[in-house]
Amino acid sequence: MSITEALIRRGKELHLLGFSVGECRFIVETFELVWPDFFCEWGTNVGNSARYFHETRVLLGLDCVMHSVEGVDNIPILRVEEEGMVRGQHVLDVPVGLHIGIGVEVALDLYAASGKSRPLFFLDGQHDDASVTVEIESIHSACPEGAMLLHDAQPSWTYPGPWLAAMRWLKTHPGYEAAETEAGKKGF
Ligand SMILES: C[S@@+](CC[C@H](N)C(=O)[O-])C[C@H]1O[C@@H](n2cnc3c(N)ncnc32)[C@H](O)[C@@H]1O
Repeated sequence: MSITEALIRRGKELHLLGFSVGECRFIVETFELVWPDFFCEWGTNVGNSARYFHETRVLLGLDCVMHSVEGVDNIPILRVEEEGMVRGQHVLDVPVGLHIGIGVEVALDLYAASGKSRPLFFLDGQHDDASVTVEIESIHSACPEGAMLLHDAQPSWTYPGPWLAAMRWLKTHPGYEAAETEAGKKGF
């Protein structure tokens, strides 16, 4: 069984909100490419994506610290508690550090203190162009070695912000390489 197939199977066993086959393959390939020793995502929500990333780390035998950040009151946040769920509920039993704050700021602080050198950031908080642009710019200036994975980066998706921000960034920063998948309805 391939790592991607094993990841899909783990997602089903854990009753995660499924990433598509294409999205799972893209996660695995990104981890194999970057081989991160530091990973931080935002926002946490119920911890669905965080659990997929944790399972990928386990399947690859990767030595990588993982963190997940959920927003604060002064930014629009989804209150999972109101839906009868628990923030980060899918990663409460595995080593993923949970934090509250402004995702990109907390992530960069954690990375600066980590002593690691191969960071991977997963951007899945606000989905508007301006917010994602600020996040990409912040990572670029504080941590030019950082790799970024953007969720919902499809022009046709309900929230085209991540795609717009990424495309504009790539046009003005030719040093960056991008890979994308259109497999799955949302895309990375
Ligand atoms: C699309 S959901 C993320 C889903 C989650 N990754 C999962 O797979 O379960 C977006 C989440 O980002 C949070 N959020 C929005 N802006 C944020 C920010 N600047 N920093 C951290 N979290 C943020 C929202 O409250 C919401 O829980």
